[in-house]
Amino acid sequence: VTVSGKYANRFGGQLVLVTGAGSGIGRATAYAFAESGARVIAVDRDAESATRTAEMSRLIGSPEAWAETVDVSDEQAMEKLAAKVAAEYGVVDVLVNNAGIGLGGSFFDTSPADWKKVLDVNLWGVIHGCRLFGRQMAERGQGGHIVNTASAAAYQPSKALPAYSTSKAAVLMLSECLRAELAGQGIGVSAICPGFVNTNITSTARFAGVDADEEKRRQKRTARLYGLRNYPPEKVADAILRAVVRNEAVVPVTPEARGARLLS
Ligand code: NAI
Repeated sequence: VTVSGKYANRFGGQLVLVTGAGSGIGRATAYAFAESGARVIAVDRDAESATRTAEMSRLIGSPEAWAETVDVSDEQAMEKLAAKVAAEYGVVDVLVNNAGIGLGGSFFDTSPADWKKVLDVNLWGVIHGCRLFGRQMAERGQGGHIVNTASAAAYQPSKALPAYSTSKAAVLMLSECLRAELAGQGIGVSAICPGFVNTNITSTARFAGVDADEEKRRQKRTARLYGLRNYPPEKVADAILRAVVRNEAVVPVTPEARGARLLS
């Protein structure tokens, strides 16, 4: 289920909050931190899957794990979450802003409502997380780390996903700005940029855009090119833990993400 365990007890007793923890990369990341001894707060808008992640995290080795049902794009709900976490669990040592959605469609096929949805979750969700939990970290004065899940889509233009790519480019830049701002306070900020990872988000036609068949062909081409079809979320989780341990800035994860040219 989990990563290799090479960070055994590396995060012992630390408080780690992961958003979008009910599935895919977020769930694998929660498990990886659990395996490394962290106390885990699994946040997802889907209550059942967040609860499952928290339960499994405890089984894997987390001394304490909780599930919180929150929509990261909801400012008030995020404020409530931040207040509750501070009062009941403590200041978060590692924040992983990972929740994200993909709505496909070319530029002219993407409605303003869909643009808004994507930016609300993928960008505003990250802004809320960074503002609220980053401030708590800064006020405590004992450092910490923020990881934002961007994407190779942040620096790889795609006709199929302009809204998604735009949201991720913004997350990448936000991460770099915040990294510069918080460096003096011992708070690291990393942007993780996976290419194609095998999760729910990539298996839905909505994400793949109006033409799911074309997306399937693209994925096959990519797989042929890089010789890798099923990149597991556990490997992204591994890269996230490493980014925290080594305080890495921008981390392209999958082979095609590494192959693409970073803008910065
Ligand atoms: P996933 O669909 O398996 O998991 C996303 C999770 O986030 C789900 O549990 C969902 O309920 C939750 N979520 C969605 N909107 C939410 C909201 N408003 N509030 C709270 N929770 C919410 O997808 P996956 O692949 O694990 O995605 C995780 C992150 O990785 C996303 O930010 C995605 O954009 C990014 N990513 C994924 C890649 C891939 O190929 N799978 C590639 C690059 C980046």
